Amino acid sequence: MSFKADFMWGAASAAAQIEGAYNEDGRKNSIWDVLYEGHTKHNDSPHVACDHYHRYKEDIALMKEMGLKYYRLSLSWSRLLPDGTGAINQKGIDFYNDLFLELKKAGIEPMVTIYHWDLPYELYRKGGWENDDSPLWFEEYTKLVVDKFSDKVKYWMTINEPNCFIGISYKDACHAPFLDDKNALISCTRNVLLAHARAVKVIRERAKITPVVGFAPTGPIYVPENKSKEAYEKAYALTFSNNIRGPFSMGWWVDPVILGKTPKDVEEYLGVKELFTSDELAFITQPLDFLGFNIYTPAGINKENSCYQTNEYEGCPRNTLGWVINPDCMYYAIKFIQDRYKLPLLITENGYCGNDFVMLDGKVHDPQRIDYIQRHLLAAKKAVEEGYDLMGYLYWSVMDNYEWAEGYDPRFGLIYVDYRDQSRILKDSALWYKTVIETNGENL
Ligand code: BGC
Repeated sequence: MSFKADFMWGAASAAAQIEGAYNEDGRKNSIWDVLYEGHTKHNDSPHVACDHYHRYKEDIALMKEMGLKYYRLSLSWSRLLPDGTGAINQKGIDFYNDLFLELKKAGIEPMVTIYHWDLPYELYRKGGWENDDSPLWFEEYTKLVVDKFSDKVKYWMTINEPNCFIGISYKDACHAPFLDDKNALISCTRNVLLAHARAVKVIRERAKITPVVGFAPTGPIYVPENKSKEAYEKAYALTFSNNIRGPFSMGWWVDPVILGKTPKDVEEYLGVKELFTSDELAFITQPLDFLGFNIYTPAGINKENSCYQTNEYEGCPRNTLGWVINPDCMYYAIKFIQDRYKLPLLITENGYCGNDFVMLDGKVHDPQRIDYIQRHLLAAKKAVEEGYDLMGYLYWSVMDNYEWAEGYDPRFGLIYVDYRDQSRILKDSALWYKTVIETNGENL
């Protein structure tokens, strides 16, 4: 068995990481536009990023050249509703309409993430996700985008990785709004999951084309230490535990959404008796068509008498952010997630970052990225051959971009971006990925 004939081959991006034009045509600030200061590598800001707002035609032409069938993008809330609620910015609507038209002309199907971390700053001033009105704000925003774009968009993801924009933004202060506040986690968890459910309901009720709706979380995936049944069960249990990595964990977010249950260890971690009432859980469990999952690296736990975790060893392969490379995490992610949640799975992100640069021949040679993708796709194929239902694979990222707190140094893209003049070059990996798509993965 191989990948399905209609396997969804594509690549992904997020508005705040590529669009730039942060204060143009009526757009107002998102939290990242303001709060990045003093928190990011080299103090890099997302204000210009890849200037995709002005260069989307060129970028879509490159996507076409590399044969992408699907393109996962997110919408900028503060471009569409500059204050988060209320007045609509027509120029923002026009931008996305033009972009969807251009994708259509290129024969590329859009997949929209409604929220990828860039909360309008005005809403943050009102308390952001801690404010119990935030599910209503998100519902208003979702109504707008569904009313305006659902004649052109069929595939929707409500929210990308609450594990990060709450899990490591309100704990350990790694991402905007850079807080470390355990109490905030209670309201944020509640509000984000209620917002997700409201959005699913709105999409189903108002979409003009029958929608395909999912969620795009991440979470630590533990790889069994050996081939024994005990090691398998241990890795599965660690993967779905919520007290090691707290709100970065997968079950924290996905168990309520799909299983309609709040894990006990989440309530213990937060020190609450009942995070959601049974009525709330019934509401949160809005039916989904698929589960997305973003997977880059295996997780580990501390080893006795060692500075290394169980997923590491001396000199093990890593990307330039230091993340361990082991494609088994892809295989076990698919197995563990589908065994537990039973929904068709879409890999919504997977990718390698390097310090790519333009070489003497004017090209960007990135053999590590090719190898990374190849290994992870082979691992995915192994799971497919065992009967797991994988809908598709979206490489992260379509182009080099603003890597949040890490600024512009880590390059994940298939397209190289020179930030000095915004010129683009298709990397070797982009040309190689084209052949993977053309052969539906048979050439791996
Ligand atoms: C996020 C992306 C990010 C990527 C690499 C994911 O956590 O969804 O926005 O750029 O990982 O760090």
